[in-house]
Amino acid sequence: MSKTLKLNNGLEIPVVGLGTYKSGKGEVKRAVSDAIDAGYRHFDCAWFYGNEDEVGVALNEKIKQGVVKREDLFVTSKLWNNFHARDKVVPMCKETLSSLKLSYIDLYLVHWPFGFKESASLWPINEGEAAFSDIDYLETWQGMEECVRLGLTKSIGVSNFNEEQIERLIKNCKIKPVVNQVEVNPNLNQKKLIEFCKKHDIVVTGYCPLGRSEYAGTPGFPEPTIFDPKVIEMGKKYKKTPAQIVLNYLVSLGISVVPKSVTKSRIIENIDIFDFKLDAGDVAYLDSCNKNQRVCPLSEFSAHKYYSF
Ligand SMILES: NC(=O)c1ccc[n+]([C@@H]2O[C@H](COP(=O)([O-])OP(=O)(O)OC[C@H]3O[C@@H](n4cnc5c(N)ncnc54)[C@H](OP(=O)(O)O)[C@@H]3O)[C@@H](O)[C@H]2O)c1
Repeated sequence: MSKTLKLNNGLEIPVVGLGTYKSGKGEVKRAVSDAIDAGYRHFDCAWFYGNEDEVGVALNEKIKQGVVKREDLFVTSKLWNNFHARDKVVPMCKETLSSLKLSYIDLYLVHWPFGFKESASLWPINEGEAAFSDIDYLETWQGMEECVRLGLTKSIGVSNFNEEQIERLIKNCKIKPVVNQVEVNPNLNQKKLIEFCKKHDIVVTGYCPLGRSEYAGTPGFPEPTIFDPKVIEMGKKYKKTPAQIVLNYLVSLGISVVPKSVTKSRIIENIDIFDFKLDAGDVAYLDSCNKNQRVCPLSEFSAHKYYSF
């Protein structure tokens, strides 16, 4: 299994990256430092996560100490939904660069295809449809392309886009998206979307690869596969943890993954997945776990014209 994947602009993305959503202030700096020491070079950030400043402190410290060079790192960030107007994209990207204290990022993603009004709250679940903006993601994309032209980011991509939206974007863009970041875990293996993206030379990055295990047991929430007794048994067979079994399986689908952790031992564990191969029976079992159940359906926004699921 390769440790990097080639993007359609010739650049490479490391297969395993560190997720940073809900990595709290006061702990994300340590997590990013530990991850660099453990060999991570790919960091998945977003303006919405509210912690890019601290991520940036850790990245810059490691660069200053000579542990890594900037060009060794692959840093992703994302444009939040309230800022889909074309003239907002460059300023938001610059704000992220300022928080991260970097002169460029490697990948800038449109976080969701649907926008909210700038005046709405960041997560307007109680504001109804009045909070929705009808700005077309094709307009947003023009701002994303401007970020590349200005050298603020090396590559641009999308997140949570469906096949139809990607096809429409490809037909109407100057710079093709390199990545579609979507939820992928054994409960939602996304094989069809992955195949579609491969056909268009777009790399899929899988988020919630561990099924966001801290929500386990919440009513209506899909049970993360890392707690499945069969997967725990598999772990014993390969002398690996359930998380390593799941991440190895996902990477074998030809995608990159961004497991989040702020726990040093898990950060180390989650990138140590390249030294074994699951046998056909175990792959078949993990394939059979697919239920098309989402950790992140965002059904509160399902009335939006650009809602994608
Ligand atoms: N584009 C999007 O719309 C979108 C949406 C959601 C997420 N994301 C990205 O994807 C990343 C990952 O998704 P996620 O954070 O939602 O969920 P996740 O990575 O599936 O799960 C994270 C949870 O699993 C725990 N964990 C980590 N490693 C483990 C291990 N080896 N064994 C057992 N438990 C383990 C973590 O705990 P500790 O931290 O306490 O160790 C945390 O509670 C995010 O952080 C974010 O960067 C993107």
